[in-house]
Amino acid sequence: MTSDWDAGRYDSDQSFVAAYGTPLVDLLDPAPGERVLDLGCGTGDLTATLAERVGAGGRAVGVDRSASMVARARARHDDPRFVRGDLRSLPVTGADGALSNAALHWVPASDQDRTLAAVARALRPGGRFVAELGGTGNVAGVVRAANLARREHGHDPVDPWYFPSVGEYTPRLERAGFEVHRASLFDRPTELDGADGLSSWLAQFGDPLFGDLPDRETVAAATADRLRDERFDGEAWTLDYRRLRLVAVRE
Ligand code: BEZ
Repeated sequence: MTSDWDAGRYDSDQSFVAAYGTPLVDLLDPAPGERVLDLGCGTGDLTATLAERVGAGGRAVGVDRSASMVARARARHDDPRFVRGDLRSLPVTGADGALSNAALHWVPASDQDRTLAAVARALRPGGRFVAELGGTGNVAGVVRAANLARREHGHDPVDPWYFPSVGEYTPRLERAGFEVHRASLFDRPTELDGADGLSSWLAQFGDPLFGDLPDRETVAAATADRLRDERFDGEAWTLDYRRLRLVAVRE
């Protein structure tokens, strides 16, 4: 698990996360009056979009386990409700839909089934679930460079996030009580903001790569050095994101 996020940095340097999540709202297609959830809502941009779509007669609720993300979401958006909570035990039932963008790969493999069962319990029969997470091979170049840098500095390699394949994840959804309507894995090279983009990314997201190290800054800098030729064009860094996108319906 990661320590708490820097929610201010998330909005200034990683705003691409919510921007890339916008198509998920259209896939969920929330109707006026519906009750919908944003699971792993961060600072709440997609929750606010959901709230606009369901209107005054509906309700959008954002859930995130990070105290700083929930605090910032509440400060930025008047309308949707934001709740600090664990995706493995959602305090909701009967929702019409749920969306999750770039959150599920933070849940360890051993907790995935429990999490998907909690999502199913939060939805009514026929409720829709639209999710996107890192898919197999996601940021593989970053993980490889970090593990080479770790070894170079005398540390064991790590296996940091859960990035499943279509064949691995869709049976999990089915076991949790979903019918899977769509599942796709696709490359989405992702440009980070500016020359400091990678150091900001590693500072924000790098706990699973370096959080155990006393020399974190040194190993993170060595990781960036290894990636520079391949991933930096002189102005911006582009990372090798791969997305697993899913549309499922609770049976
Ligand atoms: C992702 O959204 O794919 C991601 C973000 C941070 C760390 C690892 C993966």
